[in-house]
Amino acid sequence: MAQIIDGKLISAEKLTKLRQEVAEFVGAGNPIPHLTAVIVGEDPASQRYVRHKMVACKEVGISSETKWLPANTTQDELLQLIGQLNGDDNVSGVLVQLPVPEHIDERTICNAVAPEKDVDGFNEINMGRLALDMEGFVPATPLGVKALLEHSNIATHGRNAVVVGRSKNVSLPLAILMHSDGKNATKALDATVTICHRYTPPKELARHCRQADIIVVAVGKPGLITKDMVKPGACVIDVGITEITDEKTGKRKLVGDVDFEEVRQVAGHITPVPGGVGPMTVTMLMYNTLKAAKTQAA
Ligand code: GUN
Repeated sequence: MAQIIDGKLISAEKLTKLRQEVAEFVGAGNPIPHLTAVIVGEDPASQRYVRHKMVACKEVGISSETKWLPANTTQDELLQLIGQLNGDDNVSGVLVQLPVPEHIDERTICNAVAPEKDVDGFNEINMGRLALDMEGFVPATPLGVKALLEHSNIATHGRNAVVVGRSKNVSLPLAILMHSDGKNATKALDATVTICHRYTPPKELARHCRQADIIVVAVGKPGLITKDMVKPGACVIDVGITEITDEKTGKRKLVGDVDFEEVRQVAGHITPVPGGVGPMTVTMLMYNTLKAAKTQAA
């Protein structure tokens, strides 16, 4: 039976440390770090995520504000707000919750956030810096996966990792981070990384996964990773989150991309959904916000 990687517990430990670090930073005479989140429209999941972020800010002593904009906000109006926040010395970090409505170009918005306030790490400058192993902001979910691997002593150096999915904000930076030589990250991960995606034939996906020491899946397809695709003892990290109706209870619940009950019988380590990667993402956003405040104070 796999050891369960408890993201809730690990993130709580990290939040406690971050709270101390924020207190030390402020105690040394620096301004309280401040995160501004911008949300456009009424997407309930986005509203829930932003609320979690605001709660985490409170827990670690970071001040925060959410700017709620109506769904019909124009791209120019949003760009104007981002410009204001970029120029506001009281704001350490800026994030625009994604997705934005269809009439707004996501890439234009991510690129408009000042690189030194881009705590999501979605700006082209920070993505480029990550790719080149330079110092910068790394997106929170990949950072969270890295922290879970480190906390659980999962070796990555020279081992086979498969990243399933190729989103620009999670899978791509994660794949870059997993094979990094450590000039950007605090420690090199040095894995041999294979990226699989929707055009990887199912048989090939299964073959790649079976050779992997570490599988990270971030697709949003419940049950995609099954027991027969996992090498005994492998570490399986599930980033997928899909809301479904429980057949037995009729209640809504969150599930990942991994057939958890089956896969835990063969894997060495596994993350649950919920309570795995999710809490780590919010925690690493706090880490990035403190980092932004420290860089701006230096
Ligand atoms: N939407 C889903 N995940 C994220 C995230 O990490 N950051 C932002 N800004 N939007 C998201």
